[in-house]
Amino acid sequence: MGGHREVSVPIPVRLRVNNTPRDHTIEPRVLLVHYLRDACGLTGTHVGCETGICGACTVLVDGKAVKSCTMFAVQADGSDITTIEGLASNGHLHPLQQGFWDCHGLQCGYCTPGMIMASVHLLASGAVSSREEIAEGLRGNLCRCTGYSHIIDAVQQAAAEIGAAAAAGHRAPQSEVVHG
Ligand code: FES
Ligand code: FES
Repeated sequence: MGGHREVSVPIPVRLRVNNTPRDHTIEPRVLLVHYLRDACGLTGTHVGCETGICGACTVLVDGKAVKSCTMFAVQADGSDITTIEGLASNGHLHPLQQGFWDCHGLQCGYCTPGMIMASVHLLASGAVSSREEIAEGLRGNLCRCTGYSHIIDAVQQAAAEIGAAAAAGHRAPQSEVVHG
C-alpha cells in the first residue's frame, strides 16, 4: 500500500529558562517537559503520567503554573520558564523549599518539584491561608506517599513567612519569579 511518511521539520525555539537564554532547534513534537530535561539538562522537573493528571512536571511559564507535559516546547517560544532549579536565590532556599524541608512535606520526593512549583503560583495568585484553600489549590498535583497533611503544613509555613516578609517591607523571593 502506498502512503507517505510524515516529515517533522525541526523548529528554532528561543526562550529563557531560570533567567538563562536558551536557543535550540527542536522537533515540534517535543513536549516542554522533555525539552527541559533533555535539551536543557534540568532533570528536577519530573515525568509522571504524561497525560496532565499528576502534576509532577509542573513549571512556571511566564509566572503561571503549567503542567509541562501538556504543551509542546515550541509553544513556549519566547516565554520565561522557571523550574525547581531556578527557585533558590543567592544560596537561600525559597520559603516553599524550606517549608517542605522543615515540615517533612515529602517522602519519595517524586511529586515534590511539581508540588512546590504549583505552590509558588498558588501563593502568588492571592490570599491562601486555610488548609482547605491550599488543598483545593493543589488538587491538580498528586502525591502517593504523604497523605498531603505535611505538604499543607509546608505551604502554610511558607505563606506565613512570605506574608511576614511582605509586612516587613521585603520583597518575597517568589515575586522575583512570578509575574502572573
Ligand atoms: S507528567 Fe505531566 S501531569 Fe503527569
Ligand atoms: S512524596 Fe512520594 S509522591 Fe509525593
